[in-house]
Order: sequence, then structure tokens, then C-alpha cells
Amino acid sequence: MTRQPQQTTQFLADYRPFPFLLSETRLDFELGPHATLVRADLSLTPRDVSKVEDLVLDGGKEVALRSLRIDGTEPDPVHVSRDDETLRIAAAALPRTAFTLSTEVSIDPAANTAFEGLYMSGGMYCTQCEAEGFRHITFYPDRPDVMATFRVSIRSDMPVLLSNGNPVENRDGMAEWHDPWPKPSYLFALVAGKLVAVSDRFTTRSGREVALNVWVRPGDQDRAGFAMESLIKSMRWDEQVYGREYDLDVFNIVAVDDFNMGAMENKGLNIFNSKLVLASPETATDADYERIEAVIAHEYFHNWTGNRITCRDWFQLCLKEGLTVFRDQQFTSDMRSAPVKRIEDVRALRARQFREDQGPLAHPPRPDHYEEINNFYTATVYEKGAEVIGMLKRLVGDDGYARALDLYFDRHDGQAATIEDWLKVFEDATGRDLAQFKHWYTDAGTPRLTMAEDWDADANRLTLTFTQDTPPTPGQADKPARVIPIAVGLIGRNGDEVLPTRMLEMTEARQSFDFDGLGARPVVSALRGFSAPVMLDRPLDDATRAFLLAHDTDPFARWEAGRDLALSALTALSQGREAGADFVDAIGRLAGDDSADPAFRALCLTLPGDEDVATRLTAQGVTPDPDAIHAAREGLARRVAEAHGDLLAAIHDRMRVDGPYSPDAAAARRRSLRIAALGLLNRIDGGDRARVLFGSAGNMTERMAALICLIRRGRAASALSALEDEFGDNRLVMDKWFSVQVMAAPPAEAVATARSLSERQDFDWKNPNRFRALLGGLAGNHAGFHAADGSGYDFTADWLMRMDRANPQIAARMSTAFETWPRYDATRRARALAALQRIAAMEGISRNLREMVSRMIAAGA
Ligand code: TRP
Ligand code: ZN
Repeated sequence: MTRQPQQTTQFLADYRPFPFLLSETRLDFELGPHATLVRADLSLTPRDVSKVEDLVLDGGKEVALRSLRIDGTEPDPVHVSRDDETLRIAAAALPRTAFTLSTEVSIDPAANTAFEGLYMSGGMYCTQCEAEGFRHITFYPDRPDVMATFRVSIRSDMPVLLSNGNPVENRDGMAEWHDPWPKPSYLFALVAGKLVAVSDRFTTRSGREVALNVWVRPGDQDRAGFAMESLIKSMRWDEQVYGREYDLDVFNIVAVDDFNMGAMENKGLNIFNSKLVLASPETATDADYERIEAVIAHEYFHNWTGNRITCRDWFQLCLKEGLTVFRDQQFTSDMRSAPVKRIEDVRALRARQFREDQGPLAHPPRPDHYEEINNFYTATVYEKGAEVIGMLKRLVGDDGYARALDLYFDRHDGQAATIEDWLKVFEDATGRDLAQFKHWYTDAGTPRLTMAEDWDADANRLTLTFTQDTPPTPGQADKPARVIPIAVGLIGRNGDEVLPTRMLEMTEARQSFDFDGLGARPVVSALRGFSAPVMLDRPLDDATRAFLLAHDTDPFARWEAGRDLALSALTALSQGREAGADFVDAIGRLAGDDSADPAFRALCLTLPGDEDVATRLTAQGVTPDPDAIHAAREGLARRVAEAHGDLLAAIHDRMRVDGPYSPDAAAARRRSLRIAALGLLNRIDGGDRARVLFGSAGNMTERMAALICLIRRGRAASALSALEDEFGDNRLVMDKWFSVQVMAAPPAEAVATARSLSERQDFDWKNPNRFRALLGGLAGNHAGFHAADGSGYDFTADWLMRMDRANPQIAARMSTAFETWPRYDATRRARALAALQRIAAMEGISRNLREMVSRMIAAGA
């Protein structure tokens, strides 16, 4: 019988330091695909020599212990015990002073399909240790507050042998590395393989010479140049903006095909999912290039925010992730367009984080309990964690933020810190009390903000009254009022700005703000720049929204006005009411406004997705009907195309970028508008333009956009086979090929398409990218996944159960396809619940997947 994993909830309140100090870790690897020997020497000292405790080390049951010595001597076996997750050495067997624990274990990297710990990918050895992967390599205090220097030797017949830190020695079949910066085990990395490097150099501002390498498989060198450029830009930016310099002689990046997430910030040896390194115009889209630049920056920035200052425990994950996301967002706005980046980030936040916050998986940026930490690498920890820092910066100002960050790096360098430490730094640097602000870290849920306007014509005074209310989330019924920065501007009826942006600070449940001395009643532009992650509800007629879309000087608020117009049309249409005339009108005027950035216009021309409409309806207390939403969206897009066909066709032609492809922001902006116009025209031209573009475009951005249009029109067969002929052996292109067919399929065909693709030889489902392409594609097809007959739920549940046996992290992550299930009608709810219960009853289910499905089931009970 398979044992059920132990039910073990971890609580923040239970934190206690590790009872030993670990100063140095020496590791010696003898690599073999089925038997890798790992020798470890740990230099330990009891924290309190008068009360030495048992030494409990983490270690998975697949780690085979071959020998154990304390200061060179084997302890009496009665003092050594093991269970599935730990190794315990009784205090009676331990010296009262500093000692060395030496172990020798054997592991099987080729059998590791969970891609956690040491595993093989495409013939190379690589590791993934965050959050708790190191315990699958050897016995160790696998927790982020235990930091040590590492000396690592690797023996293998592979030509390239890498680990963290600086190289010490490198001869045939052997390499030695030394990392002088104390680090926790989750930042350990090892790579061994037949790899080639694209290399460059960087001189830090204090004159340190750093060798830079991007390691890829032979043949992929010509697709690694953009990653290298991005790395150099990141290093320079962190020096200029945060005063942070790199601190080793080498910085290595390795691309691997099998990777559970995007990338990993291991000290001096970042490991990346190959889709976030490899790019050429023929294979990567503009969006891929932008993402590569951002993730290279993200991982590089972790060197200070994550590695030099790490987390005390995993409850503090947003300390490093929220801050590092915030920093990579700032970097991208500096490299590209700040307003466009802000809109893209808000769109992603709403699609992923608001969705999470509305449903059974809602949790605060700093949770206080979990079963499985891997389930908490979420949009709330990452993206909301970044929003919270943006609010802090708005409240204390740019100077206050800069002073606080300097103090943070100064005070906590070399430490494992907490959210309390982080807030204290802001309090000490700015003199501000952040007790109320802390609720953003500890309370789940998205606040609902309402705004009412009162115009006193006699006094020429405008009064804005706000109320805030955060709905209950699992385990948190009542939420006190939070500090909410609300950026407001006032616009005159002629379109001129009457009052530039002012930051209102709301601290009460209900609060009013007066604006005096106004000549005439202005139009209010509220929540400019999306100054807080809240849902703003204000009674506004469509004509005023159209006015703001035409005149607002804040680009986010301007886009938001168009968004609101579209959403109010789509929610009405999906409930069978006539609507949309103002939107169709206003969007035409904006499309033709050549003074506006093309990328901004593209964002305005892209209608909210089906999922966005469902989210808005749910917030209004209406049960969303996926088929009606889909029909409403198609209908509105067609009306826009019919009303503005000539204009859109002219835009499509004029935005063509001639000459050889370049991924630079200026060219990408033009292509984005060109593609947005195509998407609308595709509703009325039967797919003719898309067919022409697919055949003529010399870059993947336009080919992929054209392909999606053809899929929607049911005319993609020849384009799909052409792509397959050309790129059948390119995994990254074929991932897109799998994904778009399911995502863009007419909803009634989505499940059948997914099923037939899943039967193909090249559906290598154990590869996380391929699995995500197919299952994520289906989850992204709103009306397809939520097919009324439950076929989308059943298909997904079957694959989650299969994947769980190979790779629990991926199964658990993809199970979030179900996270919105309680919002639908009774028939769909019953079918989704049945699928979740079937998963929950699975024999030998992992802790990862079990935690996810039980939280989701609990919400509907
Ligand atoms: N720390 C990584 C990042 O955000 C995230 C990560 C990479 C990760 N691989 C992982 C988290 C595996 C959990 C499991 O940059
Ligand atoms: Zn990160």
C-alpha cells in the first residue's frame, strides 16, 4: 500500500532558530545517472553547549545513507534514526563543542521526474533546490535561515562542470568551486553537461572584472545573444538605480529544457527554463523577448534581494519575491515604456491575482500557515507583493524609498530577514508608523473601494467620499480598514487638467476629501497609475468614461476608462441587454489618434478577455455564463471591426515595420498595434489578411498572431502543417503550436482538440513546458474549459492525476485551472466538484496536489 504523506501544517508562529550553527559545507559529487555519490562535511556547533539538542536533518526517503561519522567516528546506531523526511542523531551522540558531521549518500538523478533536487534533463545534470529540493540531494538543515559558505567538488566525464561561487580548480573530469558568501541550501546549484558558452565581460563600477557566460546546448549559441545583452543591461541598471554591485568573479547562466518554473537565482549560477533564454526572430515573439529581458533581470536582481539578504523562513517569501518583482518592473519601465508596462502589469495582476483573491485559494502576501510551500509561489506572493511595495513607495515618496532601501542593504546584508525587519527599515528611515500598513501583508482579499462625488456649486467645492470594504476570505472573516493611497486628478470640461495628480491617503473605512476653489465642476480621474490594488466602484455614465478615454492625462486612467466602457458593454451584452454604442464610438476615435503611442492604442483595442468579464460579473454578484460571455465578446469585436474597418485596415498597413527584424521596443510597439488591428479585422474578412500575413511575415510575432486568427476562423490547417514542417524539432516553437490550437479553438472544439493533441507522439507530457502548453492552453480557453458537459474538467482532472505521480509541483500548479469553480452555475459546480473529489480520492496523492484540491473543495462545502 502506498503511504499517504503526513498531514503536516507548518505555522509561522512556531518559528524557532536551528539549534546548531553551520559555518561551512563541503560537498563532493561523483556523478552517475543512476547512482550519484554525495559526500558532505558539515561544520556544526551547538548553539547552547549547556543544552545540546538532537540534531535533526532533512532528507527524502530516496536518499540512501551509506555512512555517517561524527569527527571521523561512526556513532552507535541506537543514536541514529530515520523516517521518510528526516534523519535524527540523538544529543547523546554529539560533542559539546564544534564538530564535523560527515555523510555519504547515494541518489538516482535519472529516476527524478519531479525535477526537484538533482535530476537529468536532455543528457545533462542539473539541480533545482528552492524551496526544499536540497533535502533530495543529501541530509541537511534545509531551511533558509541556516547559511554557510560552500566548497564543492564535482567528478564526472561531462566536459562542463559548474557550481556556485568562483572556480578554484578545473582539470579533466574534475572541478572545484568555492562560494565565499554564506548562503542557504536553496541557493545551491550544480550543472554538468555537454554545453557551450556565449561569453562576455562586465566591469563593475568599483573595477571588479566579471566573466559572464550563458551556457546552452551546442547549436543554440546563435539564440543566446539577447539573454547576454539583457544581463549586461541588468547589471548596469542595478548599479545606477540601487547602487548594487556584483560580488563574484563569474556569473553563469544555464538553459535547461525541463524546468518547473521560469528561472532560479542560485548564487552565481542562475538556471533558466530554456524558453527564457533562447530567442531568435524566427522562433521568438516580441512578448518572448520582453519576458526574457525581464526574467534575466529578475534573477540577477535576486543577488541582492534574495541572496545577500535572504528570508528567515518561507512565510517571508514575498520579502524577496515581491521586492524583486517590483525591481524588475521598474527595470522594464526604464528599458521600454513606463505607461505601457504599468498597464500590462495591472492586466496581469487582475487576471491572476484578483482571480486568486476572489476564490478558495485566497491568502495574504505573507501567509501564516501552509502544508506545502511550493503551493505558495503565487500571484499573491509575487505580484501583489510587488504592488504593496509600490504603495509603500507612493506613501513615503521617492527619497524616503531610496533612504529605506539603503538602510535595508546596510542593516541586513548577510542576514535572513522578515517582513517585520523590512517595515522597520521604512519606519526608521522615514519616521512613519506602518502598523496599519502591515495589514497589506497579513490580510487576504482585494478591498472594494467606492467613490461618490458631491459638487457644491455655491462654495465651488468638490467632495469625494470613499468607502472601503474587504470581503471575507478562507480563514479570515473580518478585515480592518487599510491605508490606501488614492491618486486623483481633476480635468476640466474642455479637457484641460485643473488639478495635477494628488495622493490622497485613506485610513478609515469611510473618508471624505474636499477640493476647494474650483471654477466649475471638473471630471474626476481616480486611482491614477493604479495607485493601490483595489477594485474601484464609482457610478459613472458611459459618456463620462468616453470623455476620460479621450482626455485623461494619466495613461493608466485613460486606458482604464476604455476598459470600463468595454466591460460595462460586455457584462450587459452577456446578460442579453443591448449595449456597446459608446465603446464602439470612443474606441474608433482613440484608434485614429496618431499622437498616442501605438502600443498604448494596441492595449486599448484589445478587448477584455472572457475571464475578465466573468470576474467582473462575479464581483457584481452575477453568475457568469461562459458561452454567453464568449458570444458577447465576439459580437462586440465584430461591431468594432464593422464600424471602423477602413481605419483598422489603414492602421494594419501603416504599422508594417520594414527591414530586418529587431526586437527593440519601438519596432515592437508598431507590431503590437498592427496585430491588434488584424485581430479585429479578422472578424469580418474571413481570415484573408491573416493568411497573407502568415505567408509573408519574416518574424514569429506576426506569424503567431496570424496563426491565432486563422485558428479562430477554422482556416489554420495548412499554416499549422507548414509550421510543423519547419519547426518540428524546435521544442519552444512546438510548445506554442500546441498551446494556441487549444487556447484559440472555438470553445465547442477545445476539449476535442486538446484530447487529440494529447495523443500525439510528440506530446512529451513529462516536460513541464509541453504539459503547460496543452493543459494551460485549455484552462486559458474560458468557455472551452468550462464546457457545460464537464468534459474540460474531466480531461484536466485525468491529466493532473497522471502528472501527480511524476511531478507533483506541476500537477498542483496546474490544478489552479479549477480555482474559480464556485462562481459558476449549479450544473457546472456539480461537475467541477465531482472532478476535484475524484482527484482528492486518488491513491498516493502528493502533499502538493492534496493541499490544493482540499482547499478548493472546502470552499464549496
Ligand atoms: N525563486 C525563483 C524566482 O522567482 C522561483 C523558482 C524557480 C521556484 N524554480 C522554482 C520556486 C521551483 C519553487 C520551485 O525567481
Ligand atoms: Zn524571484
